[in-house]
Amino acid sequence: MSAKVLSSAKYQVQDHLKPGGLTGISAKQIEAHWQLYEGYVKNTNELLEELNHARLGSRHWGELKRRLGYEFNGMVLHELYFGNLAAGTALSSRSPRAAARGETWGDLPAWREDFAKTAAIRGIGWVILYHEPIAGHLFNWWVSDHEVNHPAGLRPILVLDVFEHAWMVDYGAGEEAKYVDAFLENVDWETVEQRFKDSAG
Ligand SMILES: [Fe+2]
Repeated sequence: MSAKVLSSAKYQVQDHLKPGGLTGISAKQIEAHWQLYEGYVKNTNELLEELNHARLGSRHWGELKRRLGYEFNGMVLHELYFGNLAAGTALSSRSPRAAARGETWGDLPAWREDFAKTAAIRGIGWVILYHEPIAGHLFNWWVSDHEVNHPAGLRPILVLDVFEHAWMVDYGAGEEAKYVDAFLENVDWETVEQRFKDSAG
């Protein structure tokens, strides 16, 4: 039964999410990064196909399942990341909730500082502004690799890739902070606001 469900999934590269014309994040950087994303889509589909043929409950089957968390999350997080990057968008005062002002951080600069400091945590992974839809809390959250430390039940509102591959074409080692600043100048706040509205219901 589960094998049928798995084999029916075929994921496509989401070309419409590819950003362009960004400030401080070059087309060459995006191109190199996009190729990595395409690899996650390919690997996710291949893993699902392999699972369909692996012996149920075998060690190999279990390792494929474990690996799927890495590839699948790598695929989806990149789609969320590229999907919240756009040139020439500014944070609107009309969207304070999605921008994480308000109760949690008090004001936008405080949120931004918290977000950037979270990005400076040592390690590879993601910084995600999450919305918790029951109590309505917002969190700037650290995720290791693609699949470690996701909070259960929370909705990703703004997603930042802090793997070195996300900035090393444009910035040298030790210059991650410049990339994070550039990212924050290229956030598609309309998309962020929409994700927040979808989560808040
Ligand atoms: Fe990435």
